Amino acid sequence: MTIIRLITLTLTLMITMIITTVTSHNITDILSNFPEYSVYNDYLTKTRLNDEINSHETVTVLVLNNNMTTKLGANEPLAVMKTVLSIHVLLDFFDREKLLKIGGGSQVSTTLYQTTGHALQDTGYVNITDLPGGKVGFGSGNARSKLGSLFVKDVKEFPYNISVLEINSPIIAPGILNTPWIPVNISSLLENAGCKIFLKMLKEQGVLTVYEGAVNSDITVFAPSDDAFNKVLGLPEFKKLQPRELISLLYYHAIPTYVPKASLASEKNKNVTTFATTPIQNFYFTIKSSGDSFIVDTGVDVVRIENTIIDASPVSIFKIENVLLPIELFNGTSISTPAPAPAAPTPESSRSAPGPVSTDSSSTSGPAGGPDQADGPDADVGDNNANDASDGKHDTRSLLVDTR
Ligand SMILES: *[C@@H]1O[C@H](CO)[C@@H](O)[C@H](O)[C@H]1NC(C)=O
Ligand SMILES: *[C@@H]1O[C@H](CO)[C@@H](O)[C@H](O)[C@H]1NC(C)=O
Ligand SMILES: *[C@@H]1O[C@H](CO)[C@@H](O)[C@H](O)[C@H]1NC(C)=O
Ligand SMILES: *[C@@H]1O[C@H](CO)[C@@H](O)[C@H](O)[C@H]1NC(C)=O
Ligand SMILES: *[C@@H]1O[C@H](CO)[C@@H](O)[C@H](O)[C@H]1NC(C)=O
Ligand SMILES: *[C@@H]1O[C@H](CO)[C@@H](O)[C@H](O)[C@H]1NC(C)=O
Ligand SMILES: *[C@@H]1O[C@H](CO)[C@@H](O)[C@H](O)[C@H]1NC(C)=O
Repeated sequence: MTIIRLITLTLTLMITMIITTVTSHNITDILSNFPEYSVYNDYLTKTRLNDEINSHETVTVLVLNNNMTTKLGANEPLAVMKTVLSIHVLLDFFDREKLLKIGGGSQVSTTLYQTTGHALQDTGYVNITDLPGGKVGFGSGNARSKLGSLFVKDVKEFPYNISVLEINSPIIAPGILNTPWIPVNISSLLENAGCKIFLKMLKEQGVLTVYEGAVNSDITVFAPSDDAFNKVLGLPEFKKLQPRELISLLYYHAIPTYVPKASLASEKNKNVTTFATTPIQNFYFTIKSSGDSFIVDTGVDVVRIENTIIDASPVSIFKIENVLLPIELFNGTSISTPAPAPAAPTPESSRSAPGPVSTDSSSTSGPAGGPDQADGPDADVGDNNANDASDGKHDTRSLLVDTR
């Protein structure tokens, strides 16, 4: 009897899991059945808005055909396209039926852009208005905007989770396309974010040039803070590194993929290829979650991702709490604290370990989806400095010891 019950319970659990998996939507997959939106679909993938769309339970995606999307993207940097397209993702469910009978004839819907915390003056909202003759108009929620986009047709619906609707022209919020574009400058970003030692090493070893050369393809950099480097510089294992190995260590801190904060969850528990990866040496690490934070597990140490320094698709830079120690260079090394011998281990020495890590609320205070380039790098850097100040004071923990 007990066994049968157990089996029944297991089966029920499995079925529940299967159902959960099946009902979760995948915008890339949905749009792949419609070649007329393939350019739009590519942009969602490149900007990784697809991950954000998939992570929202209830969402409506306003798509544009290939001609419209190509025209829109022709003169816009990818980071600006990300902002524009995030205004086309409504955090509510609208199908044709609902569109045609909007109460009072007009409604405002929140968009994905609003969740970034960077939307100014209602640009994070979209106005949907029923027009004479059975037409539906869309415009920016900003008061100055016109209803310049018209509903064309419903493309695909999975009530009440995801709906895809075509509109005939993009919804352009004021100020989004006209902001001057500042190219990502890795040097100045790292410098202002308190990662000067990392920057100095990147320059000295010629690695910076490689990272800078990648800002137009995909790159994510994990930049250790100066505090983090000060903890390892004195280690015998670090001093022993050959120049070639030091270069590998620096290459190990970036990956040839664009991973904004909102996509960290999609990268979890995989072997992540880094710039140090070669056909003969893995130099992988693994991203894991720990409470509200994400951590990088190298197999030697476990390092918390502190915050976003910049998210400007296709470039993402995170600040991290410790230096990433690849197993290829530090295997078997038991890294002990460089602090003077009498120092007793403090509870804080386990701060970077998996599990509920931090009581430091500033670490997770970034806006959902991370900062975004349209607002310029300076605002983000300001945040980081605030974090540094609050972190540096009580940072007496030793480098995490992991003797696996
Ligand atoms: C679909 O929507 C329903 C409620 O409308 C919700 O309970 C369910 O979790 C959603 N499914 C997914 C996979 O988001
Ligand atoms: C979504 O669908 C695309 C295309 O079918 C596939 O490559 C991708 O792995 C899927 N993503 C997830 C999270 O399942
Ligand atoms: C897209 O543009 C091409 C060439 O300008 C044109 O032939 C085609 O009809 C357009 N398609 C749509 C859906 O507007
Ligand atoms: C939507 O825009 C129209 C036209 O500008 C305006 O008349 C209407 O009040 C707006 N609706 C809402 C809910 O703001
Ligand atoms: C990046 O900023 C630094 C100052 O931090 C400056 O010296 C350098 O010229 C800038 N690089 C580019 C390509 O603008
Ligand atoms: C990661 O790489 C290691 C070493 O090559 C391998 O043993 C392991 O199975 C891989 N894990 C995953 C999840 O691919
Ligand atoms: C690490 O060291 C152990 C024991 O010496 C060895 O079995 C293992 O293959 C090494 N791993 C790597 C990635 O070098």
